[in-house]
Amino acid sequence: MQEFEIKKKELDFRTKEAFKTLRTNIEFSGENTKVICITSAMPNEGKSSISFELAQSFAIAGKKTILIDADLRKSVMRTHYRRGNVKYGFTHYLVGKKSFEEVLCRTDTPNFFMVFAGPTPPNPSELLGAERFSKLIAELREEYDFVIIDTPPVGSVIDASIVSKSTDGVVVVLSSGAVSYQFARKIKEQLDTAGARVLGVVLNKFDLSGKSYYGKYYGKYYGKYYGNYENQEGTEKTAAGSAEK
Ligand SMILES: Nc1ncnc2c1ncn2[C@@H]1O[C@H](COP(=O)(O)OP(=O)(O)OP(=O)(O)O)[C@@H](O)[C@H]1O
Ligand SMILES: [Mg+2]
Repeated sequence: MQEFEIKKKELDFRTKEAFKTLRTNIEFSGENTKVICITSAMPNEGKSSISFELAQSFAIAGKKTILIDADLRKSVMRTHYRRGNVKYGFTHYLVGKKSFEEVLCRTDTPNFFMVFAGPTPPNPSELLGAERFSKLIAELREEYDFVIIDTPPVGSVIDASIVSKSTDGVVVVLSSGAVSYQFARKIKEQLDTAGARVLGVVLNKFDLSGKSYYGKYYGKYYGKYYGNYENQEGTEKTAAGSAEK
């Protein structure tokens, strides 16, 4: 097993609360909702960030959790979150060069394990559609409380639809204002056709600065009731706090 230290990043109060809510919603999706695929419609909507924070949030809550970076085409996990040397990734396992134990990483957060993507293979969809992948997921289901799988966007490549077949549910990350309603519906249809169970949508990169109607409304609401807690915690004064002025 490999080991690495997570680059620590302190989240603000509201973001932490949002992850707790997401975690709780998943926990209440059913006893058998353990293997979760995170995807989006387009690139850059925040899948990897949300996969990482969600997985870490489960681990901190005492659940044995593994995060698999199955975006074999463009992995950012390694550079964003890791300190220390990790030699082998998921591709090494999928092509049969290494055992799962050899590509697995223990992190310095208790209960939190990770597998990085590894080198980009010429045939990512094939590797993710192979029996070696689905068998592994079946084994991990027995060993871990939660398995979170980060994937490429559904609107770009087929990988997430393939991965979703081995999972209990899919969370779709949509970046606020980036995707049309029609396109989002198409993505949902594509996942339905693949036989995926869409658990829900995370609206990411939402503007809470007070410029938009919703920004104003929620900014005021949360600012009034929770603004003081943020300040007590020593976190930055957020849009919620400033919207009260
Ligand atoms: N809520 C947010 N607010 C501000 N920036 C964000 C937020 N979520 C993600 N980002 C930023 O957006 C960029 C893309 O995020 P991330 O890599 O998580 O997206 P992705 O959907 O995994 O992208 P890709 O499709 O390239 O894999 C990163 O720079 C990240 O820091
Ligand atoms: Mg990503």
